[in-house]
Parts: sequence; structure tokens; C-alpha cells
Amino acid sequence: MQRKPSLTFRRATPDDCALLAKLNHQLIRDEGHRNPMTASQLEERMAAWLASEFVGILFENGGEVVAYALYREQPEEIYLRQLFVVRGRRRQAVGRQALQMLRTRIWPADKRLTVEALIHNTAAIAFWRAMGYRDYSLKLEILPATKTVQPENQA
Ligand SMILES: CC(C)(COP(=O)(O)OP(=O)(O)OC[C@H]1O[C@@H](n2cnc3c(N)ncnc32)[C@H](O)[C@@H]1OP(=O)(O)O)[C@@H](O)C(=O)NCCC(=O)NCCS
Repeated sequence: MQRKPSLTFRRATPDDCALLAKLNHQLIRDEGHRNPMTASQLEERMAAWLASEFVGILFENGGEVVAYALYREQPEEIYLRQLFVVRGRRRQAVGRQALQMLRTRIWPADKRLTVEALIHNTAAIAFWRAMGYRDYSLKLEILPATKTVQPENQA
């Protein structure tokens, strides 16, 4: 039987940027993204995002942060840029409950919901499909010979 975590949530503030950057760094590693940004660069980027178009939500269980989400809301669409469950708490329905809270308590019900996943991140793709997201587009690429290219959509 699956253990059901009892999560609470709160909106991230500028004070959370260092923690979010640390978790973002782990997310980049876990999903196998090329993004080479350092922790301090990620913190700077997170601060800029939270001050502009993105909203961060921290999910807590027993006083500990167990997951976070970062999304952008537009008139017709909510783009979930990042969802991360801390490493020791995966496959315990934390992600499922976090998404449910986003959908029932934070996001309006009448918008298109989108998310992107790297092709090799099979765990995340299985998760999104289990959450009801359906395959929509596929990005393809040819890399230049130099390895310094930065994808425009950094994780
Ligand atoms: C993807 C992620 C958010 C899933 O969170 P989670 O809390 O482990 O997921 P849940 O336990 O709520 O899983 C819900 C369902 O999703 C599917 N699922 C989740 N992880 C899976 C995996 N590794 N393999 C296959 N299916 C998986 C299952 O159907 C699962 O239901 P079940 O456990 O009853 O079989 C988490 O693995 C994570 O943070 N990964 C690293 C960051 C990342 O890749 N984020 C997404 C890209 S932005």
C-alpha cells in the first residue's frame, strides 16, 4: 500500500532563492540536462524569475521541504517549468499530491497545462503521463561541432 504524504504548500519568496537554486541544481543532474550553470548562477536566475514571470511553490511535509514547482501563468496556459521531489522522497506520491494541489488549490481549472521533458528522462515522462498530460510535440536538434552551445530552454 502506498504511503500518502500530508503536504502543505506556500509561495516562494526571495528568501527561498538559495534553497530553490540548490534543488534546481539537483534537478538538472537528475534529469540529465546539459545546463552547466553554477549554484550561484542558478540562484541569480531564480531570483530574476521569481521577480518577473515565474511563481515558485514549496511543498512541505513535517516542516521539511519535499518538493517545489516553478510555473508561469499566461492568459490561456500554465507552463510548469520545473517540478522536483527531493531524492529520498520519490515514489511516495509526493509528486502526485503536489500536482493535485497545484490543480485544485492554486491553478485555475480552465487553462491549458503544459510541461516539457527531456527524451531520456523516462521517469518524468512516465510521471507526466500518469498525471494526465498527453504527448504533444517533439523537439529535434543537430548540435554544432563545438560543445559550448546553450539550449535556449535551460532547466
Ligand atoms: C518526476 C518526479 C517529479 C516524480 O515525483 P514522485 O513523487 O517520485 O512521483 P509519484 O510517486 O507521485 O508518482 C506518481 C506516478 O507517476 C509514475 N512514476 C513516477 N516516477 C516514476 C518512475 N521513476 N518510473 C515510472 N513511473 C513513474 C507512476 O505511475 C507513479 O504512480 P505509482 O507510484 O503508483 O506507480 C520525481 O521523480 C523527480 O523529482 N525527478 C527529478 C526531477 C525531474 O525529472 N522533474 C521533472 C522534469 S522538470
